[in-house]
Amino acid sequence: MPFAIQKLQSAHQAYRQFLARGPPLHHARYIFPFFAGSYFAYRKIDVLRVAALAKSVADNPSYVDVGCGYGDFLKKIRGYLPGATGIEKEGGIFYAFQVAKPDYIDLTPVESLTPVDVAFVGWMEPGQDFRRFVAKSAKCVITTFDAGGQCGINGGCEYDEFGFERVAWWRTPSWIDINAELMNRYYTPGLDPAKKEQLAKLRTAHNFWYVYAKPEIAGRVKSALQSWLEKEEPGQRFDFEDVLDECGFRYMEELPALTNSKKLWEARFD
Ligand SMILES: C[S@@+](CC[C@H](N)C(=O)[O-])C[C@H]1O[C@@H](n2cnc3c(N)ncnc32)[C@H](O)[C@@H]1O
Repeated sequence: MPFAIQKLQSAHQAYRQFLARGPPLHHARYIFPFFAGSYFAYRKIDVLRVAALAKSVADNPSYVDVGCGYGDFLKKIRGYLPGATGIEKEGGIFYAFQVAKPDYIDLTPVESLTPVDVAFVGWMEPGQDFRRFVAKSAKCVITTFDAGGQCGINGGCEYDEFGFERVAWWRTPSWIDINAELMNRYYTPGLDPAKKEQLAKLRTAHNFWYVYAKPEIAGRVKSALQSWLEKEEPGQRFDFEDVLDECGFRYMEELPALTNSKKLWEARFD
């Protein structure tokens, strides 16, 4: 059994024990992101932004979620891009836990990625750096990563060095940011309310979304996102967004602990 699956076995046991205790709705998503959610926290507006970006690349864009895991975000994207697919190198995540593998997820490593209009790369383990395989196949790359650094030795997950232009970016919390708030609020018995309030003021948000495009399409990808944002409706939401709000990560919330780009979900253009 691969080492990754062995590690997941014990995490899955903890996940089952957690569910057996009947936790509040949607907490599992931010405590066991691999099994119940995604590593980057998102709202419906993120799904709609990504779909609008993809449609600016082609009328009927090919879209691949690279390293999609169980495909939590991909499932949402397919509501707007029904042909979207995912690739995942570790087939054992389905077989080991008797999870049915959807036919739109291929058990293929990114090293075999074939040409595609849009590649979405959501949060890789630190040190996993397969940008060159993504870059040689995609016209547009949308990636999310932790501010703490993940790709390569310098940490960033930029695609400029592969001939892409960064078109836009925004900041959201990661599962770790939400997890910390949930732990303080619900899972740390005896923490006094003043201390909880003080800790909440220190909350921050570590997940960045970067949008890259090949120079020849960068202009239209940028304009498409700009027009989309003019009509963005934050009232359209998934039910799990209540947890984000409760933990102090509201749409356009300004976090005092951040030194720049303080407003969550505010898109910036280069
Ligand atoms: C940290 S998980 C992130 C899952 C999901 N993208 C998310 O953000 O929640 C990384 C996933 O990428 C997969 N992965 C790692 N290297 C890969 C590769 N070379 N090709 C395809 N998938 C890969 C792992 O098996 C794992 O499921």
